[in-house]
Parts: sequence; structure tokens; C-alpha cells
Amino acid sequence: MGFTFTSLLIHISLFASILSSASTAASSTSENFIKCLSKNSADTSTSIRSIVYSPTNSSYTSILEFSIQNFRFISPTTPKPQFIITPTQESHIQAAVICSKKYDYLIRVRSGGHDYEGLSYISYKPFIIIDLFNFQEINVNIKDNTAWVQAGATVGQVYYRIAEQSSTHGFSAGVCPPMGVGGHIGGGGIGFLMRKYGLAADNILDAYFIDVHGKLLNRKSMGEDLFWAIRGGGGASFGVIVAWKIQLVPVPPIVTVFNVERTLEQGATNLFYKWQNSAHKFHEDLLVRTIIQAVNGENGGKTIQIVFQSVYQGTIKELLPLMQKSFPELGLESKDCAQMSWINSTLNVAGLSGQPLEALLNRSQQSKNYFKNKSDFVKKAITPTELESLWKFLLEETEISSPVLITEPFGGKMAKISESAIPFPHRAGNLYNIQYVLTWGDGSATTRSLDKSRRLYYYMTPYVSKSPRAAYVNYKDLDLGMNKDMNTSFMEASVWGEKYFKANFVRLSFVKKKVDPGNFFWNEQSIPPFQTKWI
Ligand SMILES: Cc1cc2nc3c(=O)[nH]c(=O)nc-3n(C[C@H](O)[C@H](O)[C@H](O)COP(=O)(O)OP(=O)(O)OC[C@H]3O[C@@H](n4cnc5c(N)ncnc54)[C@H](O)[C@@H]3O)c2cc1C
Ligand SMILES: *[C@@H]1O[C@H](CO)[C@@H](O)[C@H](O)[C@H]1NC(C)=O
Ligand SMILES: *[C@@H]1O[C@H](CO)[C@@H](O)[C@H](O)[C@H]1NC(C)=O
Ligand SMILES: *[C@@H]1O[C@H](CO)[C@@H](O)[C@H](O)[C@H]1NC(C)=O
Ligand SMILES: *[C@@H]1O[C@H](CO)[C@@H](O)[C@H](O)[C@H]1NC(C)=O
Ligand SMILES: *[C@@H]1O[C@H](CO)[C@@H](O)[C@H](O)[C@H]1NC(C)=O
Repeated sequence: MGFTFTSLLIHISLFASILSSASTAASSTSENFIKCLSKNSADTSTSIRSIVYSPTNSSYTSILEFSIQNFRFISPTTPKPQFIITPTQESHIQAAVICSKKYDYLIRVRSGGHDYEGLSYISYKPFIIIDLFNFQEINVNIKDNTAWVQAGATVGQVYYRIAEQSSTHGFSAGVCPPMGVGGHIGGGGIGFLMRKYGLAADNILDAYFIDVHGKLLNRKSMGEDLFWAIRGGGGASFGVIVAWKIQLVPVPPIVTVFNVERTLEQGATNLFYKWQNSAHKFHEDLLVRTIIQAVNGENGGKTIQIVFQSVYQGTIKELLPLMQKSFPELGLESKDCAQMSWINSTLNVAGLSGQPLEALLNRSQQSKNYFKNKSDFVKKAITPTELESLWKFLLEETEISSPVLITEPFGGKMAKISESAIPFPHRAGNLYNIQYVLTWGDGSATTRSLDKSRRLYYYMTPYVSKSPRAAYVNYKDLDLGMNKDMNTSFMEASVWGEKYFKANFVRLSFVKKKVDPGNFFWNEQSIPPFQTKWI
């Protein structure tokens, strides 16, 4: 080896000078980026600095991690952003868009951070996060039945602020209070009021939005195509949602909640079979969903338990005869039911009953864990014999991780809205959707658990929707397919795009081409701009 001590020294000093010039270049890029932000926002450079966190800042990690709840995405190898920007005014967002384009950073926009695949805070190319947690203003206008809600507000905050002003107004959205309305409404938003009023995204009247040029638009100035696309097209593909104008809906002063548990020994199979064929036909005030999982049985073994969980828009006195007519097999009794205000029911179904209403305002997560979720839609009831086999599958290897199936019935208003009204296409003809939830507490079980979730999904193939096998974009699943790079074509992306959006995927791709032809707002499952070149 011709490696002398001197040559080693030369190598070391060469290496060191390359390193230091690289880091000087990096720090001057980062200085220039901050200068760019200040130049392009209506703000001074001192105050711009107070909303930008770089990796050397001592608060960087806590700001990055506070809304991440999936341990799969908190690890030393998870890619980290060059900056986290926490805008306090629109011009900060506008500047972040303009300067990220100029300095070749990708943007990840985060509202509540609940993305199932971490796409609001992870990218494998250099990127920044725009975290909208300071954008959480909510202005309720009871006289008008509307509210303006900023994108970083959570669903729980929206419910709380509405209830502060009226006990007979509500909003149709999901169950988990800390979800951000930016992502949640941008992907649809299913919850206990959907059979009566449709999705959250079906109840949007206007929006503020910042496009790829950094322009602030509203419904009128963005035009109906783009306004259509952002209500369920999955958020991140088109630009940054700043605020939604939502339609409030009437709720009765008293609603009724029940959770009825039945095991296999108590006839759960036949009850579920009956539920499949009828829950989509129930009165639209009545939504009964189910939660299916393996539990410890009576004599030491495992069994399947199904929880029938409901929020009924009315009193017990009204509910009991309705259940007697629609689902007598469940044997619902008055003692299974609790009457409460609608706002209390949102706390109850979120697993927060007994806590003060202020728990709805809490943005930090209840429990962090390892997760993988997938979704399906069911159009034809699974037979009791087929269910028996499914239960066997669920009872296998419960020590690795035990899947929970959450099923939500459609029908009612969901079946009356046309498939093309907004990008969310899963309407008439769907009995219910299934969410497969897989949780494990130990990182070393990740490979086996992900494998199990894929096997369960494969196992379900014969029983669920086909051509396409539909999925819900808010239950994002990168196993369905991914954009390899910026040039991934519409045809290639259709593999997963049609599952989420069916025929609406074409229109989404046309809108994308119109508003972001350069594909700046790109991620692993963003809508590609339509092109006539097929491959
Ligand atoms: C515990 C839990 C419970 C859930 N329960 C339900 C439920 O009951 N019903 C239901 O329908 N869904 C439910 N979901 C799914 C949820 O709707 C989605 O994860 C939703 O995308 C979360 O929105 P977010 O703002 O919190 O997420 P984020 O992670 O912040 O964002 C999700 C996606 O939207 C993009 N995005 C976020 N904000 C903006 C913005 N302002 N402008 C443009 N793009 C943006 C992000 O870049 C990302 O791609 C649940 C999720 C979890 C983790
Ligand atoms: C971290 O960044 C924030 C926001 O820019 C700033 O207010 C704070 O002073 C910084 N802290 C440190 C230790 O650099
Ligand atoms: C999967 O769904 C469950 C129940 O809705 C939720 O608690 C969990 O956070 C979800 N998983 C991910 C990856 O977000
Ligand atoms: C709602 O819950 C609170 C406790 O959080 C309780 O004091 C109140 O009586 C309940 N109201 C109704 C109408 O359910
Ligand atoms: C929010 O919830 C977390 C987890 O339950 C809890 O530790 C925290 O104290 C709560 N914060 C507030 C302000 O209530
Ligand atoms: C994408 O296509 C453009 C133009 O055809 C090309 O310049 C670029 O290198 C391609 N990018 C990737 C990542 O393949």
C-alpha cells in the first residue's frame, strides 16, 4: 500500500476541507433560504426566523415529533426535514412555496399529522415541512349555519367550538378528535353523521388555498374544477389548504349511544351476517358500526368479539322501537343505551368519556404505537360459512399482532350523492367499508406484522369490491402502489389511483395538469399531471 503518513495527512485535510466547504455551502443555502422567506413574505427577517426550525435548533425534534403517533415513523433512519416552518400568517405559506421551489426542496404540509403513511412529514428527497398547527382559528356563525375553520384546527376543536355556541348544531366528520381538518376533509371524512349528511368533504362551501405560484385563492378565484378536486382528492397534490368554510348540520338536543358486545358463543356470526344486509338500510338517523377482534374467551381460549357501536340521532324512547323493527336480533335494551348531548357523544365514541369536554381540544396523542392499516369496501354480504373461516384467520398467531376490523355502514345520504359529486367515489352499492387495523408494541415485530397485514388483505380478496378493489384515501396505504418519481405517468399511477377514486382519477389528473403541470406538489401517492404519453 502506498499510503504514507504524509499522504494520509493530505487525505485527511483534503477530506476536512471538502467537508467544511460542504457545510459552509449548506449553511449558506440555509441562510439564503431564510432570506428568501423573508423577502417573499410580508414579514421582517427577524420575525421569519421565529417560525423556522432547523435541525440544530433545540426544539426541532419536539416540534417534529409532537403530532407523530406511529412509531414506524419515529426512528433515527426516518428522513428529516431541512426546515420546519410554522406559519402564523398566509404570507409565510406563500413564501415557503415560492422559496422551496427556488431551492429545490419538496414540501410536506402537515395539519394534524395523522397520515397513515407519514406522508405529511417524511420524504426521501430533501424537503421542508409546513406545519399548520398555528393555523387553528375557528369562527362559527350560528345564524348562517356555517363556520370558517383554518386547516390546522383539529376535528375535536371544531366540534367543541360549535357546541360552545349551540347544542343543536354539529358537523359531519370523523371520530378521532386530534385529526387535522386540513388532511381529514381533504381526503373525505367519514363519521357517525355520514348516513344522514354525507362526508365532511360533502359539507364544504368555500375554501382558502395557496397554489404552486404562492397565490392565495378562494372558491371563486380557483374555479370549480380545483374546488372539486380539493374536497376529497387527498389534499397534498394541488397546493396548500389554508381554511375551509363548513356547513353546520342540525343535531337533536339528545342523542343515544350504545356499545353492545357479542362473542361467537353469543351468536356474533349470525348477528354480523344480518348487520351486513341491513345496516345500510337503517333509518339515516341510525348508524351502527362494528369493531371485530379476537379476545380472551370464557374457558381460557380465544374467541371473536364484535362490538356494535352506535350513535343514534334521537332519544332511547325513539331508538328502541326502531331497533326492534330494523335489527331485533341484537336484543338492544334500554340499559345498553346512554342519552347525552351530541358533543358528549363525540367524546364518548373517541374513548374519552368521563373527561371534561376540553379533552376535545387536546392535540397531543393518546397513545403512540406501531401501526399498519388497510381498507376495503364490501358490496355483497360475506356468508356465515365464509365468516367462520375469517374468524379462524383472525384467531391465528394473535401473539404477533391481532388485527381489529372496523366496519362502517353506508347507505342513507351516502348512497344518494353521485359518484362524481366530489372525488370520493364510494357511494350507492356499497354495504360498508372495512378498516383493518394492525397494532404492535415492539419494533422487532414490524416485518412479521406488516406481512400479516398483507396476508389478511390477500385473504379478503374474494369477499370485497373488485375492478377496482376500492380503498379509502384517508386510510392511505402505500402497499397499493407508489409514484416512483416525478415522471410516474397517469397510467402507472392508476394502479392505486383508481382504487381510491375510480373514474374520478382521470378528472383529478386533468385538474393537476392545469394547476401544477410541473408536478411540484409531488409525493409517493400524489395525483400525476395527465399526459398523453402513456409510459
Ligand atoms: C387515530 C386515527 C383515527 C382516524 N379516524 C378517522 C375517522 O373516523 N374517519 C376518517 O375519515 N378518517 C379517520 N382517520 C384518517 C384521517 O382522516 C386521515 O389520516 C387524515 O388525512 C388526517 O388528517 P391530518 O390533517 O391529521 O393529517 P396530516 O398527516 O397532517 O395530513 C394528511 C395528508 O394531507 C395532506 N395535508 C394536510 N394538511 C394539508 C393542507 N392544509 N393542505 C394540503 N394538504 C394537506 C398531508 O400532506 C398528507 O398528505 C383517522 C386517523 C387516525 C390516525
Ligand atoms: C429555535 O427556533 C425558534 C423558532 O425559530 C426560536 O424562537 C428559538 O429561539 C430557537 N432556539 C434555539 C435554541 O436556537
Ligand atoms: C389505524 O386505525 C386506528 C383506528 O382508527 C388508529 O388508531 C391508528 O392510528 C391508525 N393507524 C395509523 C397508521 O395511523
Ligand atoms: C355532558 O358531559 C358532561 C361531563 O363531561 C356532563 O356534566 C353533562 O351533564 C353531560 N351533558 C349531557 C346533556 O349529556
Ligand atoms: C392531552 O392528552 C395527553 C394524553 O392523554 C395528556 O398527557 C395531556 O395532559 C393532555 N393535555 C391537556 C392540556 O389536557
Ligand atoms: C423526468 O423527465 C424529465 C423530462 O423528460 C427529465 O429531464 C428528468 O430527468 C426525469 N426525471 C426523473 C427523476 O426521471
